[in-house]
Amino acid sequence: MTTPAEALRERLQYVLDPELGASIVTLGMVGAITVDGTHATVEVALTTAACPLRAQIERDVKEAALVVEGISSVSIVLGTMSPSAKAVLMDTARRLAQESAPTTTIPRTTPVIAISSGKGGVGKSSVTANLAVALAERGFTVGVLDADIWGFSLPRLLGMAGDVTARDGKMQPLEKTFGTGSLRLLSMGFLAEEEKALLWRGLIVQKAVQQFVEDANWSGVDYFIIDTPPGTGDISMTLARLLPHMGHIIVTTPAMAAQRVAARMADFARRSNVRVLGVVENMAPFSCECGHEHDVFGRGGGIALAEELSTPLLASIPLRAHIAAGGDAGTPAVSSDTMASEIFQDLAELLTSKIAPPAGMTGCTARMLKDLDAAVERS
Ligand SMILES: Nc1ncnc2c1ncn2[C@@H]1O[C@H](COP(=O)(O)OP(=O)(O)O)[C@@H](O)[C@H]1O
Ligand SMILES: [Mg+2]
Repeated sequence: MTTPAEALRERLQYVLDPELGASIVTLGMVGAITVDGTHATVEVALTTAACPLRAQIERDVKEAALVVEGISSVSIVLGTMSPSAKAVLMDTARRLAQESAPTTTIPRTTPVIAISSGKGGVGKSSVTANLAVALAERGFTVGVLDADIWGFSLPRLLGMAGDVTARDGKMQPLEKTFGTGSLRLLSMGFLAEEEKALLWRGLIVQKAVQQFVEDANWSGVDYFIIDTPPGTGDISMTLARLLPHMGHIIVTTPAMAAQRVAARMADFARRSNVRVLGVVENMAPFSCECGHEHDVFGRGGGIALAEELSTPLLASIPLRAHIAAGGDAGTPAVSSDTMASEIFQDLAELLTSKIAPPAGMTGCTARMLKDLDAAVERS
């Protein structure tokens, strides 16, 4: 029989060092694991004591521990690696990087965020579009993949149209400037007419997503955001395989029914070992000019789901005509409506400062990484 401590170590295999992109267990960062009753204590050695990504590592370890049967609380004892342990870690990281050369042009350290939910119509695409624009307005280059092959909507929501061209055998995403940054988008909408039903079967659809990820030029993107199709189907599985460091933001309406579906999505995310970064509640109650609060889609679903998943509620976005109208007009509300702007900029701020900081700006291992890339290039 597997003990809870063994099960936990097994589970920690899936916690990746955010910079090196390899398992913290494989990298030798996990020390002793003890379980006393239902309380687990995990020793984790960081490469540098002041590592700004320690919060993310702590959160991921904690989340992994709480999934293990028989563990209900966890403390993490953080330490710093000895120089010799660090040297071994770099050797391991180099070897792993050589063995598993990435199959995409998305930089290894770029945060990959899937906007997911268990059902359609909750606002995934609207959240994707507005969040991506908010990040671009902050000066980032944001790659956006419209993985909703049948139900693509991002070209319209973002007011982007055109033909995808190829250079050096790679599809070139269409690009649009927002503020000081830019957004690069690939969508089936650039390859098919919106009105035409796509009568493709599952396998071909998966292949299309794979090509959008692997055979496209995403080099240089600071963030990679994916608008996923509803449900926990094959496309999500394909994405999870291609982008193992992907994290999910789960969108739900405040209604309990949508929340239950979203919970199923989160359960899927857990089982396939993807990280849940947090919950976004959309279509939340709004106040109208007369001061009356309207809760068209119920209330409380967002925080209830976040609590159930021990993950933060990242934003609660009210039902707001500007958000729908902005989408129809191809000018996302984040850049035309003060309230939407505040909400989505706050969400972007939370992501860039805490939940998924951009690479390079955080870098406790940045110098080592450069080393690593040089080694991979030489091989
Ligand atoms: N906060 C909101 N306020 C008003 N309308 C919204 C809001 N979020 C989404 N919508 C509208 O709801 C519909 C469904 O949203 P969409 O983003 O396409 O959902 P999904 O991608 O999950 O299917 C769209 O017509 C969109 O404009
Ligand atoms: Mg959609």
